[in-house]
Amino acid sequence: KIPVIIDCDPGSDDALMLMLAHGSGRFNIRAVTVSAGNQTQAKTLQNALTVLTLIGATDIPVYSGAEKPLFHKLAVSDSVHGDTGLNGPTLPVPAMQAQPISAVEGIASVLSASENPVNIVPTGPLTNIATFLLAYPHLKSKIQRISLMGGGIFRGNMTPLAEFNIYADPEAAAIVFRSGVPITMCGLDVTHKALVFAKDISLLRALGNESGKAAADLMDFYSNFYRENRVELNGGAALHDPCAIAWLMNPGIFTTKSCYVDVETKGELTRGATVVDFYNTLQKEPNATVAYDIDRDAFMDMLFNAIKALP
Ligand code: BDR
Ligand code: CA
Repeated sequence: KIPVIIDCDPGSDDALMLMLAHGSGRFNIRAVTVSAGNQTQAKTLQNALTVLTLIGATDIPVYSGAEKPLFHKLAVSDSVHGDTGLNGPTLPVPAMQAQPISAVEGIASVLSASENPVNIVPTGPLTNIATFLLAYPHLKSKIQRISLMGGGIFRGNMTPLAEFNIYADPEAAAIVFRSGVPITMCGLDVTHKALVFAKDISLLRALGNESGKAAADLMDFYSNFYRENRVELNGGAALHDPCAIAWLMNPGIFTTKSCYVDVETKGELTRGATVVDFYNTLQKEPNATVAYDIDRDAFMDMLFNAIKALP
């Protein structure tokens, strides 16, 4: 099994990412660490515990992370995910608790104890990961790869060029991209092709299990934002976060390019943008595998199969 630490801010699409990761049976999920992002830290932590309870993964240790970005105020994404961060379904009361140590300490203890390098999958702002990299530089070699959802080659969703997870904490993102750890970047270019449509939501509901029903209810709520604000997606809603896990499961369904990527932390118009040297104009050593297309049907099959295997 592929060893991973997941750092997330659930978040509707983060919830489906956790379902894909656990339901696929392909991962040894050593820890789930939680960042503030889509909602406050208190809510995203509660949501992570709730989702793991729903999917029968109460044995995975959960660690609470940063309450706000390194330098800026937290701006949550309630217009997309609702006031709870997981609006839509009725969800179980968590049957588990967070660990008594922080996300950064949790990552350090998992990596120190691991014989082999571990992948890290961040699907929220990168505050916890950047803080970890600064605090424990000697453990960097224990990270196999960081497969993250964030950024975009040619677009943003918070500003014309900045995507939410990077915009939320650009300084943290810059630390991660400059860390020297191999990175896979699933940005908006690919995630806006990983679309879930109404017919897929019906199929999720028809799976007949609690997780399928919750996934369908989450996507019903989440799709409202996309129908109203992303008309060009023709009724599809972007399944951003599951892409970062799907890449580790089957990179062959993605189209990627090795690029040099940095993060704009100061730009007047572009703060929080990932600057992706797609045409290698700077002739710098690539630091990221950047995904920009996906076989949507294969991706959806992976998701259905994983969720079908859950309670
Ligand atoms: C990202 O922002 C969040 O709202 C989603 O969970 C995803 O991680 C997309 O820009
Ligand atoms: Ca997220």
